[in-house]
Amino acid sequence: MNSFTSSLGQPMDRVDGVAKVTGRARYAGEYPEAGLLHASVVSSTIARGRIRAIHTTAALQVPGVVAVLHHLDRPRISSYDDDYSDADSAEGSPFRPLYNDRILYSGQPIALVVAENLEIARYAGSLVTFDYEQDEHRTDLLSELSSAYDAPAETPEARGDFAQAYAAATTQLDATYVTANEHHNPMEPHASTVFYKPGGALEIHDKTQGTQNCQDYLHKVFGVPKEQIRVLAAFVGGAFGSGLRPQYQLPLAVMAALHLKRSVRLTLTRQQMFTFGYRPRTQQRVRLGLDAKGQLQAIGHDAIGQTSRFEDFTEHLVEWSGMLYRCDNVALSYRLAELDVYTPLDMRAPGAGSGMIALECALDELACAAGLDPVELRRRNFASNNGNEGKPYSSKELLACYDQGAERFGWAARSSSPRSMRNGNQLVGWGMAGGVWESMQMKASAKACLGADGHLTVSSATTDIGTGTYTVMTQIAADAIGMDVADVTFLLGDSSLPTAPLQGGSFTVSSVGSAVRQACQVLRTRVLESARALYPALATVAAADMRLVDGHLLAAGERIPLADIVAQAPEGALQVQIDAEPGSRREGFSTATHSAVFVEVQVDESLGSIKVTRVVSAVAAGRVVNPKTARSQILGGVVWGLGMALHEEGQTDHNLGRILNHNLAEYHIPVHADIGEIEVIFVEEEDEIVNDLGSKGVGEIGVVGVASAIANAIYHATGKRVRTFPITLDKVL
Ligand code: MOS
Repeated sequence: MNSFTSSLGQPMDRVDGVAKVTGRARYAGEYPEAGLLHASVVSSTIARGRIRAIHTTAALQVPGVVAVLHHLDRPRISSYDDDYSDADSAEGSPFRPLYNDRILYSGQPIALVVAENLEIARYAGSLVTFDYEQDEHRTDLLSELSSAYDAPAETPEARGDFAQAYAAATTQLDATYVTANEHHNPMEPHASTVFYKPGGALEIHDKTQGTQNCQDYLHKVFGVPKEQIRVLAAFVGGAFGSGLRPQYQLPLAVMAALHLKRSVRLTLTRQQMFTFGYRPRTQQRVRLGLDAKGQLQAIGHDAIGQTSRFEDFTEHLVEWSGMLYRCDNVALSYRLAELDVYTPLDMRAPGAGSGMIALECALDELACAAGLDPVELRRRNFASNNGNEGKPYSSKELLACYDQGAERFGWAARSSSPRSMRNGNQLVGWGMAGGVWESMQMKASAKACLGADGHLTVSSATTDIGTGTYTVMTQIAADAIGMDVADVTFLLGDSSLPTAPLQGGSFTVSSVGSAVRQACQVLRTRVLESARALYPALATVAAADMRLVDGHLLAAGERIPLADIVAQAPEGALQVQIDAEPGSRREGFSTATHSAVFVEVQVDESLGSIKVTRVVSAVAAGRVVNPKTARSQILGGVVWGLGMALHEEGQTDHNLGRILNHNLAEYHIPVHADIGEIEVIFVEEEDEIVNDLGSKGVGEIGVVGVASAIANAIYHATGKRVRTFPITLDKVL
């Protein structure tokens, strides 16, 4: 046997790491071209009404201004709602920029100035003025709860008899939680550079999680044939869901390019990053009933989220309460209230991020009321079946997460009563929570080609939004064909590559990874077959016993140059494209990732300031392809959970109907000084059902449960339950 170590499971450095840290990696708003025009968006200052007049004369007189586009002066765009829908659309009528005179929310793009450079475009934009007919607006979810209606979501049916079981419970808990609007703020703001090619073809660098989603959208909105539109996203500086839907800078930049027949770039300002989707504010009531043995007898979770007046945004907010723990009497409800705001948007672990705050805080309150350790309560209610679906989990090593997390954290030394641990002036609190996220698989395609030089190129139209997709797919491909990672290149972020779903939902490894693996396995067999034509001695060699090393095939003592095999192979034999479907083994099972998060906080007794000093996150997500990039995902999730718990909140001035803190000075996110020690444990979990790789995905599970664990730790430190997030010091004092 040749010595060969599979790269699967190795903590390999990012293959794109050097390009990123040296600045060679170009992002959507960084592609140059001589004569490129720059555009700037002018945003509405009212939240609801109509535009009666637009004054553009002053702007058009600024030297260097090429055009001012608005609803009365723009190229033709589709008038059909459907044409604006995309792969992550909510129900309703998608937003159509510069479509008509209606103002639907404050910050709405209502004009686009195009100029020779960005400074001129922005300055001229400041000279465009509007006469509005202003209508009364409503932007405060908590004032509109009574208007809420059933969300058009597949909320699991009630089971058992919640009311009776709740009434009969030994210990009852009834608590209501409020979570805040949170805005995606990746380092890279949304940007599109549209290169207008001779003949009208468009080559577009866009900040997106799905190049083909954007291609399809532009095709429908502008009626440009798909072959004339190529959308690229080689590098994405974070997205977290903000790039799941085409954001408005994309159609606006394309509109300008088509109108002027010139190349155009449009980058949103940081303030404008607050003028589209966001994680919606929610109010959630949780009722739990426990029997004398510490078994959950009743779970009720009633949530209301906000949405816009034009779309019904829904997320998986309450279903977790019906599936994480064993309980026979469950009643879940999910309603929406319409406001004069933009439609919310998926944000990392959409629904679970906020829904699990309510469930896991309520569980902690219940544990306290029943005099049970919070880990013990969860342990007693472990569910190996998903009660919502009546199906067993394909794997669920949550008990091991509790064990290993608690062990590493030192949970056994916890004194159970609040305010019983301190460090000088600091009240010390230890809290924990569980986490859960779906483990999905979507249809995806990948292509694997062996070049004449023996180099393997694998491609798929997926993106890498910072998650490590380039690296992980390289590892999966190298393992499947039996090559060294150095001999493999993975291409992505290009709408012309084999079809891939949006990068999101933690399903990229499962979906695209399965396609990559299958394509490379087939190619491996083809290589062997082609080699056998040259070397009959290989007839008895199995594909698994062959390695492709240093441009040679090694098997049965032979060392055959790959170049010879490629030259000899029938046309196209060494190019394999596979369309991978979710495996049929999944049917009959529920698939999910789980976690247990343990947190230490220190709360200054006189100041109320909160410091998260330690976090241990134990995650069960099946097989981890790359522990380094996976750990990075969990670290990011923990940091974000800390922000959800303590910092993040889009604050709306309801008189003006607009977000006040639309910048990173006032919209607080955790900074380095806020972060203590974070330990990540990947609990071993074998899963042969979820997919051939046995990988469940780690993109979202890291954030789930963190905010509740912190809230629970704050209660343990201070004896005070804060149920309105974020938990700022004024609420603790
Ligand atoms: Mo994530 S919200 O699935 O991009």
